[in-house]
Amino acid sequence: MPQTGPAVLFTEAVIRKRVRELGRRISKDYAAVDELVLVGILRGCYIFLADLSRCLTIPRRIDFMAVSSYGQKTTPGALRLIMDTRTDITGKHILIVEDIVDTGRTMHFLQETLSARKPASLKSCVFLRKPDRLEKEVHIDYLGFDIPDLWVVGYGLDYADRYRALPYIGILETGDV
Ligand code: IMP
Ligand code: MG
Repeated sequence: MPQTGPAVLFTEAVIRKRVRELGRRISKDYAAVDELVLVGILRGCYIFLADLSRCLTIPRRIDFMAVSSYGQKTTPGALRLIMDTRTDITGKHILIVEDIVDTGRTMHFLQETLSARKPASLKSCVFLRKPDRLEKEVHIDYLGFDIPDLWVVGYGLDYADRYRALPYIGILETGDV
C-alpha cells in the first residue's frame, strides 16, 4: 500500500466539535468580563487559535508570544522569550492558547512569566496534552484532548516544520519522516 500520510488520531469533524465546545465554555465563563485577551503561543497555536477565536461570542483581542528552548548543549530545557505580546497585559483577562503540553516546561515558563505581570486573571486553553510526559505541574483550565505519548502533527503542529497544514491530527510514524 502506498504511504498516504500520518495515521488519523482526530478527524476534522471531531476537532471542529471539540473546539466549538471549548468556545462555548469559554464564552460562558467570561460572559461578565469586558474583554478577554487570547495570547497564542507561536507557531503551533495558529490554526487552533484561528478556529477557537471565531467560536467565541464575547469581546476578545488576539496577541502572540513565541518561546524557544536554548540548545540542549547549554542549559537543557531552559526557555527564553523570543517574541513578546504587543499589549501590556497588566490588569487584563488573559487566556494562554497553546497547541500541546508535552513535558509542561513551556506552559510552566509562560504561566510564571505572565503571572509576574499581574494580569486581572490568567487561564490556559490547550488543545492537546500528553499526561505520561508531564514533568512540571501545570494547571490547564480548558483542554481539548489527552493523548498517549506519541508525536502528533497537523492542525498547526509540526515535525521539523512540516505537516502544519494537515487538516486533521495525525500520528507521525517512521515511514512519514
Ligand atoms: P513542552 O515544553 O515539553 O510541554 O513542549 C511544548 C512544545 O513542544 C509544544 O508547544 C510543541 O511546540 C512541541 N511539541 C511537543 N510534543 C509535540 C508533538 O507531538 N507534536 C508537535 N509538537 C510537539
Ligand atoms: Mg507550541
